[in-house]
Amino acid sequence: LRMSEHIRVENLAPGVVGITLDRPDRKNAITLAMYRGIIDALRAGDADREVRVMLLSGAGGNFTSGNDIADFQKPQLEFPSPGIQFLQVLSTLRKPIVAAVEGHAIGIGTTMLLHCDMVYAAATARFRLPFVNLALSPEGASTYLLPKVAGYKKAAQLLMLGDEFDAETAVDAGIATAVAPGGQALAAATECARALAAKAPRALQLTKMLLRRGDAEAVASTILVEIDHFSRCRTSDEAREAFAAFFEKRAPDFSRTS
Ligand code: COA
Repeated sequence: LRMSEHIRVENLAPGVVGITLDRPDRKNAITLAMYRGIIDALRAGDADREVRVMLLSGAGGNFTSGNDIADFQKPQLEFPSPGIQFLQVLSTLRKPIVAAVEGHAIGIGTTMLLHCDMVYAAATARFRLPFVNLALSPEGASTYLLPKVAGYKKAAQLLMLGDEFDAETAVDAGIATAVAPGGQALAAATECARALAAKAPRALQLTKMLLRRGDAEAVASTILVEIDHFSRCRTSDEAREAFAAFFEKRAPDFSRTS
């Protein structure tokens, strides 16, 4: 098992493995090494007979600020990128996955939730799909799954405007299961994971497979179509400007890019 210093993997309850994004000084922004660490933990958990449920969360009061933007500025050396490999693994797990969202869930921090079975969001959680604002196109099959669960108009609003939205909106949009009091998302998610871990594992896994079967092909192919566009966007002048603007703490200026 490859270990990443910013990924914590631990037993939270009998049959429940917690995978925690743990890079609080960067609001748990996910690096390439962290994606590799999560992929390993998810694969190991899915294969381990002792593990029945996996639980994703973030340390220090945030879920994640999304992909590390500094990594977006570097040349891509691996195809598909570890981020996309992570989404491919997450979307094809046999075992149920529960997520606990406190604070920020941005970009892939929101799109990954579409692949989780149960999502508990703190009342104080804030979600954002800022792809277009970063001159990027969306990933993670969000352009397929979000209109499906939220309706086209809601999906267009969230993906085109990229404004922040709250936990109640996330539930209404089909991104989250339920709202927990602030600071209680992990407790609510752990309680749910415990309940799932006590159930007959084969029936539970079959239910997950059957629930997702009809969409599996569309999800897999959408991830690939999206990433083709995303990869080209990532190295565009607009995106370079947007990434630089983020680190310079200013608004991007798209007026001079074509
Ligand atoms: N990639 C790289 N660094 C990030 C990051 C990311 N996704 N998110 C936050 N950071 C860094 C900040 O640059 C800052 O670094 P600094 O201390 O050297 O200035 C540090 O983490 C703390 O973030 P900061 O912006 O100061 O905290 P905040 O509470 O004011 O705002 C966020 C938190 C998450 C709202 C804000 O950081 C943000 O918008 N991040 C980018 C989200 C994003 O667009 N992700 C990409 C999605 S595709």
